[in-house]
Amino acid sequence: MEAPHHQHPVPPPPAPSGAPPGGDGAPGGLPDRPMGDSPGGVRNERTVTVPTAEAMRELGVRLAGRLRAGDLVLLTGELGAGKTTLTRGLGEGLGVRGAVTSPTFVIARVHPSLTDGPPLVHVDAYRLGGGLEEMEDLDLDVSLPESVVVVEWGEGRVEELTEERLHIVIARSTGESAQAAGDAEQAAADDVRTVTFHGVGERWAREDLAALG
Ligand SMILES: Nc1ncnc2c1ncn2[C@@H]1O[C@H](COP(=O)(O)OP(=O)(O)O)[C@@H](O)[C@H]1O
Ligand SMILES: [Mg+2]
Repeated sequence: MEAPHHQHPVPPPPAPSGAPPGGDGAPGGLPDRPMGDSPGGVRNERTVTVPTAEAMRELGVRLAGRLRAGDLVLLTGELGAGKTTLTRGLGEGLGVRGAVTSPTFVIARVHPSLTDGPPLVHVDAYRLGGGLEEMEDLDLDVSLPESVVVVEWGEGRVEELTEERLHIVIARSTGESAQAAGDAEQAAADDVRTVTFHGVGERWAREDLAALG
């Protein structure tokens, strides 16, 4: 018997008006970008430059406005890349309870909504040895399909995931930084990051990721 996986319990909101021009990939035509390993073949990508930690938090707030129950957001990047900083903005934008911090001592932390929105489930995949299926066994107090699930994943660990996901890759940029601008103190605190959004699956096909920044 096959169990349907993670169905949306709530009807999706009406499709945003005005699909991006030419975004629907003419059948038979060449893809306008490499398709990567997406089994569904639906990919929506966007790269933004994020100069400061504060800008990273604000990016999270903006992204939160596009998230809904059942969404999976996967954050990839080395330690200190800014995954938790981005998640802090997500928590703020979603209006959830509790400070978003590195989930160092727990595998997952649930932040309930302060309004009637979805809770934020913040997962540290470094501690999730067995992959995402293991999350079903965590005995969280919330249903994952009714939550926004954000997983801080290690660099290079993007295998075997659900078909619908927003995969965000955060990389430290080489090149210009605050250091180059000659402000040593600021350089220690803020450093440019390159953030790439990969929207994978139908859920993300029509999201206007360009509106994020
Ligand atoms: N542009 C930037 N974006 C995000 N964080 C930045 C940036 N510049 C400097 N930082 C700093 O880098 C660190 C990122 O830490 P954190 O978000 O915990 O990373 P991760 O969760 O990926 O390990 C913070 O100390 C933050 O202030
Ligand atoms: Mg972290």
